[in-house]
Amino acid sequence: MTNILVTGSSRGIGQAIADQLADRGCNVMGHATRALDDRTIAADFSDPPAPQQLWEEALERFGGRIDVLVNNAGLFDAVPLEASDIEWLDRWEDTLRINLTAAAQLSRFAVRHWQERGSGGRLVHISSRAAYRGDSPAHWHYAAAKGGMVAMHKTIARGYAKDGILSFAITPGFTDTSMAGDYLQSRGGPGLLADIPLGRVAEPEEIADIAVFCSLDAPPSMTGAVIDANGASFVR
Ligand SMILES: NC(=O)c1ccc[n+]([C@@H]2O[C@H](COP(=O)([O-])OP(=O)(O)OC[C@H]3O[C@@H](n4cnc5c(N)ncnc54)[C@H](OP(=O)(O)O)[C@@H]3O)[C@@H](O)[C@H]2O)c1
Repeated sequence: MTNILVTGSSRGIGQAIADQLADRGCNVMGHATRALDDRTIAADFSDPPAPQQLWEEALERFGGRIDVLVNNAGLFDAVPLEASDIEWLDRWEDTLRINLTAAAQLSRFAVRHWQERGSGGRLVHISSRAAYRGDSPAHWHYAAAKGGMVAMHKTIARGYAKDGILSFAITPGFTDTSMAGDYLQSRGGPGLLADIPLGRVAEPEEIADIAVFCSLDAPPSMTGAVIDANGASFVR
């Protein structure tokens, strides 16, 4: 059975990914800031050692073998330019740590694990359209973290394909992950739909469809790919 660690699986895209992988017969270990059930490990990525503790606990619970890591956990937190200098810096460092550094720490442990086992493995990174298009003026940090994630992913794909270690990145546009209404409001109101030729935001299940494909089915020659899912709001 395929052992898969999915970060940020308590809600939204991560929950849809974990559910669909379980439906496919995988052994899934989830993660959130709080332990919700015995299939969820608690780790707050704003604490630098937390990703290592998560990796070690997941490995132990899986009996020493992880086959796929899905780096999904993330924070979308606005900080205006007018914030105080220290607040702006604090929020920048939190977002970079949670959205990029934690994924890098986990990816490093995964690559070393697969190298030691000589087994190969798969990484799936949930980045964002913001990696290519940028984000709002209050989200420099978010766009920078997601752009960094794509660069990290490409580096891993190129560096370890020879070891059977494959890396895939997904760059969703707006995806409805909270209660109806709240979602659009939190992203700037209904006006944002005018910018999406499909006429709606993505559903978490659509992003999960892509993540499951990358985790289980994508051919090895696809390693290094970045897959857009944004209703044609950003075509490149
Ligand atoms: N929704 C979108 O429009 C969209 C678009 C492009 C990319 N994405 C990316 O897709 C991923 C999932 O997004 P989503 O919308 O499904 O998010 P979400 O509903 O807000 O869920 C975020 C997940 O990340 C976890 N998380 C948040 N802060 C954390 C921290 N400090 N340490 C560890 N885990 C933390 C949360 O755990 P708790 O429940 O414990 O807080 C939760 O499981 C993110 O990487 C996001 O950037 C989302």
